[in-house]
Amino acid sequence: MFNETSIKEIEEIRTKYPNSRAALLPVLYVAQREFGWLSPEAYEAVADLLNVPKATARGVGTFYAMYKQKPMGRHLIQLCTNVSCMILGAEKLVDFLKSKYGIEPGGMSPDGRFSLVIMECIGACGTAPAMLVNDNFYENLDKKNLEEILGKYQ
Ligand code: FES
Repeated sequence: MFNETSIKEIEEIRTKYPNSRAALLPVLYVAQREFGWLSPEAYEAVADLLNVPKATARGVGTFYAMYKQKPMGRHLIQLCTNVSCMILGAEKLVDFLKSKYGIEPGGMSPDGRFSLVIMECIGACGTAPAMLVNDNFYENLDKKNLEEILGKYQ
C-alpha cells in the first residue's frame, strides 16, 4: 500500500528506534502524508509494515490531534480564533471562509480544496490574526490578504 519512497523512509525511521512500536509516531506521519489521512487501510498498512497489532497503531494515531481521522482537503488551513486573534477579527475571517469557500470549522470545502481547523493559539498573538496553510505561516490577516494567500493554493 505504501509507495517505494515511503517504504524506504519507514525503513530508515525504523533503524532509529529500539523497536517497531517506538517508531509508530513518525511512521504514522509518513502514512498521513502519503494517504492524506489515517484511514482504516492506512492503519493496516502501518501495522503490517511495523509488525504491530492494528489496534496499537490505531490507538496511537487516534490519541494525538495532529493525526487526521477523516478525509481532508488538499490544503489544511489552521486559523487561530483565540483571544488576540478574535479581538483583531478572526471570527470575521471564519465567516468569510464560510461564505467565500463554503468551509465550516472542522470541515472541508465542497471542491475538496481546503479543510479548516480552528486553533487555540499558534504563538503569533502580537501579529494576530494568524494562520497556517499546510506548513506555511501567515499573520496580520484580513479578508483581502486572506483571499490573496488562499489563491496560491489550488
Ligand atoms: S491568540 Fe491567535 S496566535 Fe495567539
